[in-house]
Amino acid sequence: MIRVEKLVKRFGDSVILDGIDLEIAQGEIIVVIGPSGTGKSTLLRCLNFLERPDSGRLKLGDLDLDVAAVNAKDMLAARRRTAFVFQNYALFANKTALENIAEGLIVVNRWPKKKAYARALEILERIGLASKANAYPASLSGGQQQRVGIGRAMAAKADIILFDEPTSSLDPEWVEEVLGLMKQLAAERQTMLVVTHEMSFARDVADRVIFMEGGRIVEQGPPSQLFNAPRDPRTQNFLRKVLATSSSGSISANNDALSVSE
Ligand SMILES: Nc1ncnc2c1ncn2[C@@H]1O[C@H](COP(=O)(O)OP(=O)(O)OP(=O)(O)O)[C@@H](O)[C@H]1O
Ligand SMILES: [Mg+2]
Repeated sequence: MIRVEKLVKRFGDSVILDGIDLEIAQGEIIVVIGPSGTGKSTLLRCLNFLERPDSGRLKLGDLDLDVAAVNAKDMLAARRRTAFVFQNYALFANKTALENIAEGLIVVNRWPKKKAYARALEILERIGLASKANAYPASLSGGQQQRVGIGRAMAAKADIILFDEPTSSLDPEWVEEVLGLMKQLAAERQTMLVVTHEMSFARDVADRVIFMEGGRIVEQGPPSQLFNAPRDPRTQNFLRKVLATSSSGSISANNDALSVSE
């Protein structure tokens, strides 16, 4: 289980995360939505200590941290329990797909190379890219690069995978293959916290959808409740802006509306 208590993050005088409380069960799939600049990325980055939170508690399994008092060892321990998938893949250009997946195991988990490469190959098979083991990122499509990014997160066997808009940089033709891999992970009950504008993914896959605004969780619930019967006017307002209901009844995000700050 993962528990966040009263998490606060400031940048200068601005309070970006204003006391976030969140509990995530093992195997739970959570999607976070909300207007631009509202702290979604900052929340994910604080859970992984890519940003240093100012105060609060973070519980990751048996690791229980007062975030204001963490040392380097605590941070490394937290990073081992939380894997991150970035919008822009963040692969090493000078390493092959296999090496990119093995790198974290060697550096963060201190595995011997041989063992790390064996695991990386196993992951490449699971993500359908075994034939690309020795390919460099530049020779892979955006969708393949992001699948390697997800493979790298899978390799770590972390308690949770944090996805920050994993399909937002992709050409439309590659979005489905990446969402497909995420759905595969969800079906395996890999715990995940996903920031995305892919509302149909949220509706079909999430156990719980969280709406954030102004550094706070405004409302959360199962997708059926949050999308069909949002209670808070701020959630209603946001959904009205971003959801375009097609004749088939499927929902997708209106990206123009999403890029506008509230
Ligand atoms: N390193 C930083 N230094 C100063 N301010 C920052 C920094 N990172 C983020 N911010 C500010 O914190 C606020 C929240 O940013 P964050 O990136 O978490 O928003 P977001 O909800 O992920 O937005 P988007 O949907 O556009 O990705 C914004 O006002 C942003 O300008
Ligand atoms: Mg963001």
